[in-house]
Amino acid sequence: MPNSPDRSRDDASRLLRRCSLFAALDDAALRLVAGHAHRRRFDAGEVIFRIGSPGQSMMAVLAGTVRITAASVDGKEIVLADLGGGEVFGEMALLDGRERSADATALTNCDLLVLERRDMLSVLERHPAVAIKLLEVLCERLRRTDQQIGEIAFLGLPMRLAKALLRIAAGTPQAKLALSQRELGTMIGGTRESVNRCLREWQRRGILQLDEGWIIIRNADALEEIGRGNVKET
Ligand code: CMP
Repeated sequence: MPNSPDRSRDDASRLLRRCSLFAALDDAALRLVAGHAHRRRFDAGEVIFRIGSPGQSMMAVLAGTVRITAASVDGKEIVLADLGGGEVFGEMALLDGRERSADATALTNCDLLVLERRDMLSVLERHPAVAIKLLEVLCERLRRTDQQIGEIAFLGLPMRLAKALLRIAAGTPQAKLALSQRELGTMIGGTRESVNRCLREWQRRGILQLDEGWIIIRNADALEEIGRGNVKET
């Protein structure tokens, strides 16, 4: 039996409830927002939108991971954020009416809820708590990016790599990471070759193990010391 409009609106508002952005809305307001939203699915690897394209909507991640990247003119790519369930993106073009500021790609299969500009702007006007929450999201991203710029500009590659590995490992059981060396390079602003050199040296010293595409951290304390700059690396 096909879903009735009421049923899909209930589903959408239940899913929106999981987004901290909409936590302040009561059920009636949430149903109103959900009534205007539509779901879209993307397969792993699919482009959601490209930098420079016009943006008339923002998206909430219901399931999966969306990768936000920026590219330099010479084709190098840097990861700005990986966003999971409950997080939103596309809010910048929605707010300022300009083009998309970065690429968004489905890192895994993704289920998104798309919210159109005119509906979101009216929610923000009528519900200041949602507007304030969105400002918090923007502040958090700016802080993260400030930190990333600081690391790239002022820290050597080993320190950046150690910090990135520890950050990723914090959300991973058994400190076993499925990351390619190229991918790590795009996260820390380095080349695959320099990442490879560093990882091999750390493997030689027993700090981690490289095993069929996995990076397994064996000595997190040593990585922390490198991340703090307490160990001289070449
Ligand atoms: P928008 O500019 O509409 O499209 C690209 C999106 O990527 C942007 O909205 C934000 O949601 C997200 N984004 C852009 N820059 C960053 C960043 N530095 N950190 C996290 N997310 C970002």
